[in-house]
Amino acid sequence: MDILNKIVTKNDVEALDKYRNDRDLHKKYEHQQGTWDNVDAFVKWSSSVILFDSIKDSLYPQPGIKVVDLGSGDGPVPHMVADKGFDVVAVDIQKWSFLYQSLAHIVTKDCRDYLRDCENNSVDIFMDGCAVTHFDDSGDEVTPNKGWRSVFRSMYRVLKPGGYFICTSDIDIRTTTCIGEYIIPEDIIRMAEEEGLTLTSDFNYSRDEIWERGRNLPGKPDGPPNLGVACFIFTKPGYKALIDILNIKDSDVAGQGLYAKVDIPKDTILGVSHVIMDDEIHRTPLGGFINHSDKPNCMKYLEGNKYYIKTTKKIRSGNELFLKYSFYEVK
Ligand SMILES: C[S@@+](CC[C@H](N)C(=O)[O-])C[C@H]1O[C@@H](n2cnc3c(N)ncnc32)[C@H](O)[C@@H]1O
Repeated sequence: MDILNKIVTKNDVEALDKYRNDRDLHKKYEHQQGTWDNVDAFVKWSSSVILFDSIKDSLYPQPGIKVVDLGSGDGPVPHMVADKGFDVVAVDIQKWSFLYQSLAHIVTKDCRDYLRDCENNSVDIFMDGCAVTHFDDSGDEVTPNKGWRSVFRSMYRVLKPGGYFICTSDIDIRTTTCIGEYIIPEDIIRMAEEEGLTLTSDFNYSRDEIWERGRNLPGKPDGPPNLGVACFIFTKPGYKALIDILNIKDSDVAGQGLYAKVDIPKDTILGVSHVIMDDEIHRTPLGGFINHSDKPNCMKYLEGNKYYIKTTKKIRSGNELFLKYSFYEVK
């Protein structure tokens, strides 16, 4: 399931049902208001964790990665991420009580003040589960939501180069600018880009088959619902996990894989996949995400202490890249 950079569809919600039905998960991260049964909360929580899992391995080194959840509320996401071994700070303007305990560090503060006090280049990953849009919902045509603008501005300063912002937010599904709390995804992306962040891959703007989650158009209580949820991953450029012609997506073969964003000619060098240091082999994102095949379209070769990957065939846009693994046996 690929929920990255698009508005959540009905199919996504069906696929997320495994989280909705996972009673052990709900029991572990028990929620005061029983919100695991609330379709809107579970879609955002499970999408956040899926998106987090999709990028966490591309950051190196893993120990000490600092994650900040903006407007964490009493939701389970910061605790689920802390339980994966990450250093998590959960910031919210309100003081919440929690039914579960994790190593997440809870800070009761306005996120805009928290961000103002953060050092430059100090955070690896920011997360937002439909909170930023509530920080300051005043706005105008240029800045339809002042909360988003101020967060993007601070985030650009505070994120480490190559760091990420994972966001699952309520959005207005209309296509023309809406001022206020529920802005349209186009305006979120525009403001992020104006403040220097980039999307990790193209956003699919399609409103087809999207999952609409209640709330009616102002003044039309019986009209169609106009709220959706959009999932984004933004990054602060400066360091690139992958060259621009590749992206990481859910693979039909195993977990996530590497895909060509454009037609890639035969014999194109894609970068370093593994580095040998102190007799140990370390993988880069390229080496970490490429899947195995007995009929690969790429090969790796050694130069000095680095393995490089190059294409052995022309790879068409949208196709997955494969390598024949040699460091261990694939079962
Ligand atoms: C819709 S809830 C989302 C909570 C949580 N992220 C989740 O997914 O369950 C929005 C949260 O944003 C918090 N919030 C609103 N304005 C804030 C601000 N300026 N700074 C920090 N938190 C804020 C609220 O207290 C609330 O907990």
